[in-house]
Amino acid sequence: MTDFATETFQAIQHTERERFIASHPQSMALARSAQQHYLFGVPLHWMRDWPSPATLFVAHAQGASLTCADGVRYADFCLGDTGAMFGHSPAPLAQAIARQAERGLTCMLPATNAAAAGELLANTFGLPMWQMALSASDANRFVLRWARAITGRPQLLVFDGCYHGAVDDTLVDMDPMTGHTLPRSSVLGQVHNHAAFTRVVPFNDLDALEAALKQGDVACLLAEPALTNFGLVPPEPGYWEQARALCHQHGALFVCDETHTISTALGGYARAHGLEPDFMVVGKAVAGGLPCAVYGFTQAMAERMAQAKNAAPEGHSGIGTTLAGNALTLAALQASLEHLHTAANYAHMLGLATVLEKGLSERIAAAGQPWTVTRLGARMELQFMPKTPRNAQDVRDHAQGELEELTHLYMLNRGVLLTPFHSMMLVSPATTLGDVARLLSVFDDLLAALRAHPGPQAPARASRSS
Ligand SMILES: Cc1ncc(COP(=O)(O)O)c(C=O)c1O
Repeated sequence: MTDFATETFQAIQHTERERFIASHPQSMALARSAQQHYLFGVPLHWMRDWPSPATLFVAHAQGASLTCADGVRYADFCLGDTGAMFGHSPAPLAQAIARQAERGLTCMLPATNAAAAGELLANTFGLPMWQMALSASDANRFVLRWARAITGRPQLLVFDGCYHGAVDDTLVDMDPMTGHTLPRSSVLGQVHNHAAFTRVVPFNDLDALEAALKQGDVACLLAEPALTNFGLVPPEPGYWEQARALCHQHGALFVCDETHTISTALGGYARAHGLEPDFMVVGKAVAGGLPCAVYGFTQAMAERMAQAKNAAPEGHSGIGTTLAGNALTLAALQASLEHLHTAANYAHMLGLATVLEKGLSERIAAAGQPWTVTRLGARMELQFMPKTPRNAQDVRDHAQGELEELTHLYMLNRGVLLTPFHSMMLVSPATTLGDVARLLSVFDDLLAALRAHPGPQAPARASRSS
């Protein structure tokens, strides 16, 4: 291996880029030909947000590993940014999809297993009533519409640094000087003034939350129980009990977006911590990675939703898409709830995540680096700051984009995939102790390489550039 200790930080970056190019001729060639028919050379432009000099093309993904077009095997700790949290193509899921594929894909009518899948949803997540969507973005959009419809209130409340998908109302930021809502400057084609109908408050700040709710016009607080998209920011002890009570006191609904925080425990964070949301959204991994999202709600919400729908004129509700709840997805959902969302799987994920967290923390301490590992169940993040952040501003203040990108590329070049946008690692039921040992060993090498060159203080970088 190259003696990085004698190189500058920039030289390490250069070496890693060259190393990627030299070892990925097939991906480089595929990137060139895809360029002809795809904007930015990829089917979805975010796929270029990885730190590699060219896109990594995937030949095969199974369990916790992924093999690229050049035949390199990676221990996958990105897991499709949570879509494959239970591993790639788990056997019971693949079998259920294959079975259903011969029996009809979509009919705009419920398949015979709909009731059974509904019961599994209720048992897994603890809410009695459910609706389906194709993505968590859609599910969040639909829940916001329901919340406004049933409360008759216009305002939404979100946390600074939030990400709930491609949901226009939530693509806003907080002006750090005034606390006012700003349109998120990176959002394309924005013409509506969402800042007029969405308030943004810092996470872990009960006074700010109360001030925003006190005006009596907030339909709902839409929140992840811990921020996962702007660094991993856990709630402070007691925060949610009081935040929940404030919502209740001021007549605002509490919508819990568990799309990422289902990594916490079986049934998600809210269930594990008794948060009792009015609505809950789960996407990505809920059906093992097949496009599917669900939103659950209490019986009280169901009654208010039925009233709102029945009172509305005939016609489009603005909620739903043609393929939502299709037969293929429903089959995948049922199989996933039966075979993947299990206590045994979570025991494996959480146990191994603890080993990884300990291994990383010990190495950081031994190297004397001012870094932190923050874990939420099976998910953890390597944070280039001395302690776990309290809110999005903490993350902005400590962001080290270049070091983060180098960490990704360095790991990728040695067969370990981290989640791009931030240094998130997720442990699946298929992840092995060997995968964890491999990541830790590459981390040892990276620490050695950086020892002499801790890297420049890079400017703040948003959680994702997509
Ligand atoms: C918390 C949360 N909610 C919703 C979404 C949107 O999911 P999707 O892109 O599958 O619509 C994401 C995506 O990262 C997310 O992290």
